[in-house]
Amino acid sequence: MLSREDNQLFFDKISMKELAKKYGTPSFVYSEEKIVENFLTIKRAFSSTTTDICFAVKANSNIGILQILARQGAGFDIVSGGELARVLKAGGDPKKIVFSGVGKQDWEIIEGLQNEIRCFNVESAAELEKIAQIASSCSQIAPVSLRVNPNIDAKTHPYISTGLAESKFGIKIDSAEHLFQRAHEDPHLNLVGIDCHIGSQITEIEPFRAALNILINLVQRLAGKGINLSHIDIGGGVGIKYKDEEVINWNDFASEIKKSMKDIPQRLILEPGRSIVGDAGLLLAKIILLKNNGQKNFAVIDAGMNDLLRPALYGSWHEIVSVEKRTYPEPVDWEIVGPICETSDFLAKARSLSIVEGDLIAILDCGAYGFSMSSNYNSRPKAAEILVADKSHFCIRNREKISDLFFLENLRST
Ligand SMILES: Cc1ncc(COP(=O)(O)O)c(C=O)c1O
Repeated sequence: MLSREDNQLFFDKISMKELAKKYGTPSFVYSEEKIVENFLTIKRAFSSTTTDICFAVKANSNIGILQILARQGAGFDIVSGGELARVLKAGGDPKKIVFSGVGKQDWEIIEGLQNEIRCFNVESAAELEKIAQIASSCSQIAPVSLRVNPNIDAKTHPYISTGLAESKFGIKIDSAEHLFQRAHEDPHLNLVGIDCHIGSQITEIEPFRAALNILINLVQRLAGKGINLSHIDIGGGVGIKYKDEEVINWNDFASEIKKSMKDIPQRLILEPGRSIVGDAGLLLAKIILLKNNGQKNFAVIDAGMNDLLRPALYGSWHEIVSVEKRTYPEPVDWEIVGPICETSDFLAKARSLSIVEGDLIAILDCGAYGFSMSSNYNSRPKAAEILVADKSHFCIRNREKISDLFFLENLRST
């Protein structure tokens, strides 16, 4: 939780000024307490006897964060062999892993099979064939769930809308039935479920309800043909409050979902990412210099779009606060920009702040799709990641060093 004492910013009672002094900037800082609270809020809204929560690792894949969730008994939604390795390293239970993604490679499917994951969320007919073939050649039976595309408008940013007919994700709902039949008949496949994921940062319950009802309808038609599934997975996507959005209340969400699931024997799976870690992280940065181009004031900070891509990619809004609150100079509007050679390298626009060169700022709600989307663009070492827990702090990822940037590169010897 954020608080102020003597104008200084604290996160879970830890001084952000002290943390910046110890670990440097830019640094992502996460609250274990908030992550656990968010996870338990979802868990309590649903009943654990009918629902499984699989954290979407892509939102934040640091093994220190995954470890917190593994210890809470969470399952995991992964999209790559790399994410599988991370979950296993963090102590996650492979039997609670669902493997999503439109382009799983052979080695990733083999890894999933060898580790006996809960299921592969299959996104196409071609992928179903591939998994069946690999399972057959490994003399194994692959657990599969088919991801259908319910053609639902999630009413979110087009780049994070995934449930429309035009998107690359999932299997067209009208042609899904024969693929379920195909999976049901294959001796190397164990058809266990159906799933969908309609988008991210969704702020209304209705699109979820509509998608679930489409899935339930199909599940019942399949049952009529003797194809019985054991779970229905409605993906992730519940949004968080970045600015003034009215967000979904988990109890309201759960009661709507439960209404639809009444008399439905299948278990429910959720794949929340952002809603577990989004508001549990902030990005600490330092103002390198201030400049004015005759039209606008710019605060150039030591974090850029390589550290936090969301504003550049989606025009998304993050609250920005000073680590030390000033009374002077008078606040004026600032464009908060990074040092990267791109006009899209901005973190925030027109923010009224009282700042001077060298000040520390905190960019809030960066726990999801922050570090996990970061890069080394402009040869910038990746930020450190710090966990605040039990009134203490732990470095869960060291700041990259300059030598790390070209550690894997080779000079020709001739
Ligand atoms: C298949 C799948 N499941 C879950 C998620 C997590 O979504 P969110 O972080 O919005 O909860 C995503 C994110 O895009 C996804 O693609």
